[in-house]
Amino acid sequence: MSSKRLLPLALVFTVAALIFAACGSSGTEEAASADPANASATTETVATATPTEITFGNDVQPILEANCVSCHSDTGPGTTHLEMATAADVATIAEFIAFRVEDKQMPPWPQSGLQEIDYQYDLSMSDDDRQTIIDWAAGGAALDVPEDTPLTATAQAYPPIDADIVITADGPYPGSEKVDDYRCRILDPEFTDTNWVTSIETRPDETRVLHHSLIYRLPASDRAEADERDGADGAPGWTCQTVPRMDSGSLRQVAGWAPGTGPITMPEGSGLRMDAGDTFVVQWHYHYDAEALPDNSGIALELATDEEIAAAGGALDPVRNRALLTPVEIPCASYETGALCDRGAAVQRLMVEFGFESALISEFVNRQCGVTPDDFAHFTEGTASSTCDVDAPVGEIISFWPHMHELGTTYRMTLNPDTPDEKLLIDIDRWDFQWQMGYYPVEPLILSPGDVLRIECGWDRALWPVGVESRYIVWAEGTQDEMCYTGVAVR
Ligand code: HEC
Repeated sequence: MSSKRLLPLALVFTVAALIFAACGSSGTEEAASADPANASATTETVATATPTEITFGNDVQPILEANCVSCHSDTGPGTTHLEMATAADVATIAEFIAFRVEDKQMPPWPQSGLQEIDYQYDLSMSDDDRQTIIDWAAGGAALDVPEDTPLTATAQAYPPIDADIVITADGPYPGSEKVDDYRCRILDPEFTDTNWVTSIETRPDETRVLHHSLIYRLPASDRAEADERDGADGAPGWTCQTVPRMDSGSLRQVAGWAPGTGPITMPEGSGLRMDAGDTFVVQWHYHYDAEALPDNSGIALELATDEEIAAAGGALDPVRNRALLTPVEIPCASYETGALCDRGAAVQRLMVEFGFESALISEFVNRQCGVTPDDFAHFTEGTASSTCDVDAPVGEIISFWPHMHELGTTYRMTLNPDTPDEKLLIDIDRWDFQWQMGYYPVEPLILSPGDVLRIECGWDRALWPVGVESRYIVWAEGTQDEMCYTGVAVR
C-alpha cells in the first residue's frame, strides 16, 4: 500500500504551487452563522452570584485574557466575529462563548493531545479552564467587576513580527466577474544588496474575498518577464490560475497564508536569501460569493540584522521547502448517484476545468504511494481514508503544514511507524478548514536519512455541500476537490 520513493522534483514544485489553489467557498460565513445577538437573549440574568463561587474577576477574566483576548480585540483575526474588549462584551454572550469552548472550537487548536511532541504557539486550553468558563456561564455569568472593565491580552496567540518592511502592490486589484479569481501581483522589496528574510507575514486587506496567498521568490534576472505580464490585460497584475509560472521556470514558493495561518518565522540563524533586485510574486486567490471587492493585501518582512548575519558566519542557513503528497480517492457513497460518480468522468471533468496537468496529479501520487483506485473501492459508506509512507526530508524541521479541503476530518503524521522508535508527530482529530496551522516543534526535531514519515488523511462526504452534484473526488486543486498535502520546511 505504500512506498518510500519521493515525487520527481519538478512535480513537487508544481504541486507545491497548488496547495492553496483551492480555498473553501463557505469561508467565514459558516462560522458567523451562530449569531451572538441570539445568544445574548438567553443570558439576561447577569446580577446573581454563581453557586460554584467562580468569580469573573478572579477566575474567568485571567483565562480569557490569556487564551482569547489577543485574537478577539484590536486588530486580532477574531475581532470582526466577536469583540472581547470589556467584561460586558463577554458577559452578555457568555452562553455562546461557553458553547464554543465546550465544543473545543475555541481556542482554535485542532490537535487531539495524543501527539508526542510539543509545538510552539500551542493554543490548547486545559480542561479545568474550560470547565471554569462553562460553569461561570451556566451559573448566570455574573460580573463582580464593573461592566466597562477592559480586557487586556496577557499572552499573544501568534508572536507579533517586528516588521522592517511592509510591501503592497501599486494600487488595489479591483476584482473581476469570475467566482474564483487567481491574480498574481509583483511585490517589490526594492533590495539593493543581499538581505535575509527571517519572518514573513501576509497582511490581508479585504478578508471578505481573500482566500489565500502564495508567496514566490522571483530572481532579478527574470523580472522583465513579470513586468511584461503585469497589467497586460488592462487590470493590475495578471491571471495565474492553478500554478503561477514564469517561462523561465524560476518561481519558487517561499510562504503562504490561508485562514488561521499565522506569521512564518524561521528559527534563529536561518532565513530566506534575497539578492539585489529579487522580488516577490504573490498569487492572491479571491473568491467572490456575492460581488467583487477591491483588495490591496500585502506582506510584511522581518530582516536579519548585520549582527545576526555576522554571528551566523556571514550567511544564514537557507530554509528549504518540501511537499509530501498522499493519495486522495473518495468514491461516491452507495447512496449517491450521477454520471460524475464514475472516476473516469470525474477526471475528464478536471481536465476540462483545470487542464491536463491537474488531471494527472492523482495518477502520479497514486503511483508514488503504490496504490490504485481499486484499493479505495470498498469506501461505500461516505467516509474514506488514505495513507502513504515517504522518506523524511533530512535536516532540522522548522515546521509542518498539513493541508486538506472541506471534506477533511482527520490528519495524522507518524515518524518511523511500526518500529521501536515510532512517534506520533501530529494528530488532528477534527480537521477545520478555518484553522490551518503551521506546527513548529519546540525541541529541535532532526530527521536523518532512512527516517520515514507516515501520513494519513480522512474525509467524510457528509460535508459535501448541499445542492452540488455528487462526484468521485481525486487529488486536485478545485474548491470541491481534495488534497492530503504536507508542507515541510527544513534547514
Ligand atoms: C488564534 C486566534 C483566536 C483565539 C486564540 C481565539 N479565537 Fe475565537 N475566533 C477567532 C476567529 C478568527 C473566529 C472566527 C472563525 C471561527 O469561528 O473559527 C473566532 C470565533 C469565535 C467565536 C464565534 C463567533 C461567531 O460569531 O461565530 C467565539 C464565541 C469565540 N471565537 C470565542 C473564543 C474564546 C472564548 C476564546 C478563548 C478561550 C477564543 N475565541 C480564542 C480567533 C481566535
